[in-house]
Amino acid sequence: MKFNTLKNMDLEGKRVLVRVDFNVPMDKKGKILDDRRIKAAIPTIDYLLKKKALVILMSHLGRPKKVEDKLRMDKIAERLEKLLKQNVIKLDDCIGASVEDQINEMQAGEVCLLENLRFYPEETKNDKFFAQSLTELADVYVNDAFATMHRKHASVYGVPYFLPSCAGLLAVKELKQLDKARKPRKPFFAIICGMKEDKLKAAEKMFTKASNLFIGGVLGNILLKARGYKIGKSKIERLKLDKKFISSKKVITPEDVVAASKIAGNAKTKTVDVAEIPAKWHVVDVGPKTLKRIQEIVKNSKTVFWSGPPGIFEIKKFSKGTKALAKLLSKAQAVTIAGGGDTAEAIDKFRLARDFTHVSTGGGAAVAYVEGRELAGIKALIESKKRFG
Ligand code: 3PG
Repeated sequence: MKFNTLKNMDLEGKRVLVRVDFNVPMDKKGKILDDRRIKAAIPTIDYLLKKKALVILMSHLGRPKKVEDKLRMDKIAERLEKLLKQNVIKLDDCIGASVEDQINEMQAGEVCLLENLRFYPEETKNDKFFAQSLTELADVYVNDAFATMHRKHASVYGVPYFLPSCAGLLAVKELKQLDKARKPRKPFFAIICGMKEDKLKAAEKMFTKASNLFIGGVLGNILLKARGYKIGKSKIERLKLDKKFISSKKVITPEDVVAASKIAGNAKTKTVDVAEIPAKWHVVDVGPKTLKRIQEIVKNSKTVFWSGPPGIFEIKKFSKGTKALAKLLSKAQAVTIAGGGDTAEAIDKFRLARDFTHVSTGGGAAVAYVEGRELAGIKALIESKKRFG
């Protein structure tokens, strides 16, 4: 390996700063809706505790620009405490003298969780002094936040410059599993849906690697529009797409969709061909002809990568397409890799996770890795190894 893992680090009795991704979905009252990412970090924390390390966890939550009470890490610390079956000390800041004092009073074998890193804009700006302040707290750095590895942020990219560093167990497992889609057995079918526009740019890059590419959800609407279809009142960003990508036959968009009079559970709905989307209606799901086409391609594929739901599955009336897609992939003979918060949530909701080869904790990170990009977090670990051994 070009970077260190837990196994080749001296961790015994050390103060270990661990970047985790506890960016979990919460409702308005701060109730955690899905704790997969917290559970996924437990093996690394347990490993460190067995080594009698003092474990200092840090994460972001949401995209705050300043302190926002609803994005404090308290609820996450409570959930982690239950899962770990051990006390977790929640600190009210992530850098500074008071944090250092509290950590100095902690013993080996204890765990603490720092406050939301993004309360400091310096985190996302990869500020050198902010990264340095984080390093004051520890002897060793572990990155187990696979889902944030594509971000060139201080806690991901900056810290390993100053401390001996390694990847955690989740990060290593994710990379190994996602390698099956990064270097796929062909035919390789990529299904990229959802609403984050940067994924469409990534899909453009996957274009050469994939034998077939299906683009759905809001991203599908963007491409349908670029292909000359009217998409009713569906809201989309204007994106400049490559002409070859727009016209390619191997880039498939929905043939039929579910259109709804409004985005609400009591909307009127109808299934229509894409040429017949009513002017005042919204595209909310894929239709049966589209699913059949996807099923045929899946049958002839050796590897399938899926990121993003093709419909607004949170509303039951619009969830049929996402459920059918999850089901047909769960039965596929191919290697099936799924990634992304919403995708994982949908797969869990339909209780199909066990039937996938791998369901990643990463959304954007998984797409970036499969696309072939070098993740900022990995690059930083490689550089750190060159520097500290
Ligand atoms: C995610 O949810 O994909 C990760 O936590 C990264 O979050 P971000 O897109 O806000 O950087």
